[in-house]
Amino acid sequence: MSALTATALAHPNIAFIKYWGNRDQSIHLPQNGSLSMCLDGLYTTTTVRFDPQLTADSLVLDGSPVQGAGLVRVQQFLDHVRRLAEKDIYAQIESSNNFPAGAGIASSASAFAALALASTSALDLQLSEPDLSRLARLGSGSACRSIPGGFVEWQAGETDLDSYAFSLFPPDHWELLDLIVILDRAHKATGSAAGMALAHTSPLQKQRVTEAPMRLDFCRQALLERDFTSFAAVVELDSNWMHAVMQTSAPPLKYLLPATEDILDSVLGWRAEGHSVCATVDAGPNVHILCLPQEEAFLRQELSQLPEVLELITATPGGGARLLSVTA
Ligand code: PMV
Repeated sequence: MSALTATALAHPNIAFIKYWGNRDQSIHLPQNGSLSMCLDGLYTTTTVRFDPQLTADSLVLDGSPVQGAGLVRVQQFLDHVRRLAEKDIYAQIESSNNFPAGAGIASSASAFAALALASTSALDLQLSEPDLSRLARLGSGSACRSIPGGFVEWQAGETDLDSYAFSLFPPDHWELLDLIVILDRAHKATGSAAGMALAHTSPLQKQRVTEAPMRLDFCRQALLERDFTSFAAVVELDSNWMHAVMQTSAPPLKYLLPATEDILDSVLGWRAEGHSVCATVDAGPNVHILCLPQEEAFLRQELSQLPEVLELITATPGGGARLLSVTA
């Protein structure tokens, strides 16, 4: 068999209704459905080259070879792909992010979405979008939401077979902006997998999960109607629920910095003054301010005055993962 190479690109995504907690951690079967937007302008590009001459998998990320846990995670993911293709063959992977390494933007979603598409294409596995999304989910839960484009829902599902993401609306459905406020570039002490493994220890998690379908309905409807007021209310409620669960887990987890809290307070104040802005925070201190385009200049003006703000990045609704090339 000749070496097969494919290159794919995928965007990260920001969740409006969050994923936090698994029914089965090993295959990322989530406790609740989630909803997100793909982030245009930010992307991971990954080339996978399978070659019968290779004796092991290797990974180069942003120009540097990766060993240890990072490499093992990718090898385990490729084992799923090899099983699907029924081929015993190793690969060389080269991946790069166009967003600065350590910018505080989670790259595992775009990384595993791009890897799923490139590796299956290189082995000529033609997976449907749901099957590709299920495969990406095995690498990182939120990666399943970076396979379809635009505004995306991950249905929790009952089993591995029906836990995948699909597009609710295309990117041009609504001109929302995500203004990402970078406050810290360091890698977080507790990654999302370890953090969400504690979710069940919080007395608030059960209620958060029980009410998730209601928040999903509400968010879907707000997106459908492009109703910013309703959207803002449910996005902030959902983010606060997740951080409340984190902070009441045993041991407690706190991802927010004082500057994060200050910005969240400012966002509430600006909305009370009539600005179309709201905020959501993932498992880290950086703030994603979601807003309508006319708010960007005002927000940049306000935020650039704060000494804690290291960088501001604007993202618009992006498309799904796409194949850039396949060569034999
Ligand atoms: O898929 P993971 O392990 O990167 O977890 C994502 C967790 C959050 O970003 C905090 C929430 C989400 O739904 O994206």
